[in-house]
Amino acid sequence: MRFEEREITLKDGRQCILKPNSSEYAEQMLEYLKKTPDETDFLLRYPDEVKWTLEEEQKILDDFLENPYAIMMVAVVDGKVAGNAGVNGIGYQRKLWHRCSLAIALYKEYWGLGIGTAMLEYLTELARQVGWKQIDLEVVSGNDRALAAYKKCGFIETGVRHHALRFDDGTLHDEILMYKEL
Ligand SMILES: CC(C)(COP(=O)(O)OP(=O)(O)OC[C@H]1O[C@@H](n2cnc3c(N)ncnc32)[C@H](O)[C@@H]1OP(=O)(O)O)[C@@H](O)C(=O)NCCC(=O)NCCS
Repeated sequence: MRFEEREITLKDGRQCILKPNSSEYAEQMLEYLKKTPDETDFLLRYPDEVKWTLEEEQKILDDFLENPYAIMMVAVVDGKVAGNAGVNGIGYQRKLWHRCSLAIALYKEYWGLGIGTAMLEYLTELARQVGWKQIDLEVVSGNDRALAAYKKCGFIETGVRHHALRFDDGTLHDEILMYKEL
């Protein structure tokens, strides 16, 4: 969906723009999707699972832009993609219409500068405007930075999904379930 750009000042004094993602960033986004999972084990995707083309990525981003029930927010610093976050409806069935889910990831060089907090706050505002009543998300157990960011922004832990993820090395990892009332 389309929404207003918002400019924030980072902890290091730089400016960052939060705006709707679109095909303009497709090339940078493909790079981001492949590089960010190399910087942390806490993301769902492995880099080799990003198999789609630039044209396909452009279409994905423009479809998000025109979808009133999907938010795709990019954080841009000095013209470069620093991170991305998305909020989507859980499902098409009416009994699920009140819920959405959230995902966020920044390049490591931008961690700890306040971008995550600003994105979570803005996404919360937008999700409320769409009409969703709660945001759900999952965090890999041990991702203390993300847990702290979510708690700071009002999310609460509701449970654990045991052995939700199996990494390539065979290790199993729990997911912590979190939610925020809108
Ligand atoms: C998780 C993530 C989105 C948080 O964004 P961020 O911009 O780094 O977070 P912020 O700078 O806004 O910090 C938010 C809070 O996290 C906490 N925090 C910061 N550094 C921390 C650290 N090293 N350890 C634990 N908590 C930390 C603080 O409470 C901070 O609040 P404060 O600024 O008031 O002190 C970002 O670090 C990231 O993309 N990580 C990798 C991908 C990922 O894990 N995504 C989430 C998947 S569920």
